[in-house]
Amino acid sequence: MNPNPMYSITCVPSADILELRTKILRPGQWPDIERYVQDDFETTYHFNARDETQTIGVATFIRHQPPQDFDIPIFLELGAIQLRGMAVHEDYRRCGVGAKIVNFATTFLVESGFSKNTLLWFNARQGAIPFYEALGFKCEGDFFNVPNIGPHKIMWRQLGHTS
Ligand SMILES: CC(C)(COP(=O)(O)OP(=O)(O)OC[C@H]1O[C@@H](n2cnc3c(N)ncnc32)[C@H](O)[C@@H]1OP(=O)(O)O)[C@@H](O)C(=O)NCCC(=O)NCCS
Repeated sequence: MNPNPMYSITCVPSADILELRTKILRPGQWPDIERYVQDDFETTYHFNARDETQTIGVATFIRHQPPQDFDIPIFLELGAIQLRGMAVHEDYRRCGVGAKIVNFATTFLVESGFSKNTLLWFNARQGAIPFYEALGFKCEGDFFNVPNIGPHKIMWRQLGHTS
């Protein structure tokens, strides 16, 4: 762990996040890149944290409705955003990098015109649930299995929620 990493966070093209996304979230797959259908849509936003030498954290925000049985009726008329590809380099975890990326990105999206009440949701890996809970996200429904990865739960909050 690097206790005081110096880094900056910016909104970037997909090319700047794909390597770390793949290496952290699909390690056995590298060098085949982990891509999402929406990666290069105009309405998709990618963020990375970079220190002077490398990318140390990434996240992607996609315009995408949650599953139809998602039981949170509020906010859906505003549309919804799915967080995907949240990953921090192993050497930089528990230093606040992941939290800063989510906070930077949600502020950026609100300043770009999304309502603070827009639903922000995602499928959370079991091991990452405490991280998301620390950022004010709530679990919805039961665990479900994602093949080759493991148990997940849907989590959500308002985009502009401040923890
Ligand atoms: C989940 C992940 C993105 C968190 O990133 P991070 O930079 O380490 O998280 P932060 O340092 O910003 O953590 C913020 C807070 O979240 C909580 N938290 C983070 N990781 C945690 C963990 N493993 N266990 C318990 N709480 C945790 C803590 O409250 C932490 O604050 P603290 O360190 O002051 O106690 C990172 O561990 C990661 O990339 N994991 C592997 C990939 C992954 O699972 N991605 C999520 C896919 S859904």
